[in-house]
Amino acid sequence: MKSIVILISGGGSNMSAIVRAAQAQRWEARWGARVSAVISNKADAGGLVFAREHGIATAVVDHRAFSEQPQPREAFDAALMTKIDRHQPSLVVLAGFMRILTPGFVAHYEGRLINIHPSLLPAFPGLHTHQRALDAGCRFAGATVHRVTAELDHGPILAQAVVPVLPHDTADTLAARVLTQEHRIYPEAVAALLQT
Ligand code: GAR
Repeated sequence: MKSIVILISGGGSNMSAIVRAAQAQRWEARWGARVSAVISNKADAGGLVFAREHGIATAVVDHRAFSEQPQPREAFDAALMTKIDRHQPSLVVLAGFMRILTPGFVAHYEGRLINIHPSLLPAFPGLHTHQRALDAGCRFAGATVHRVTAELDHGPILAQAVVPVLPHDTADTLAARVLTQEHRIYPEAVAALLQT
């Protein structure tokens, strides 16, 4: 069994797209792969409801619970790893997981950790990607699926999608156009990895 663990912080629409693709394309029957858990750093992440409704195990590790510790990021990541490793994942999928991970976490999942970022990397790593693309006068924007390395929003690129920037775009209209493409390329990239 190839176990997939997905980490989210919010609505989880990319996670939902992967779960729906896994069901529609029968990943379990074809490749012995299934989404075994969805884990969030926020108890109120909307995606947790979707996961539970689809019979997927969920867990919450609230990063705020570690803020008083001498090394809060390391302590949070250690707790997160404990929850993740219960599911012995072949793949750990970051899907709108808005925490910066420690080098120790990244090393622990080396070769098994992927992310989606809402820009055409290496352009615009970090936050506010759509506004930054508009401010720079970009004619095209997009999204990137990449392997996660210790450097934020870097790492070998697995898939990209390009969308046009339209004359009256705001950060929100551009984000919505990009997100539609994220929902296409992320399940495709995960499926491709499951077959390697
Ligand atoms: C997506 O646009 C994803 O690319 C982005 O957050 C959104 C999550 O949406 N991720 C990042 O910005 C990571 N740096 P979702 O919760 O509906 O999948």
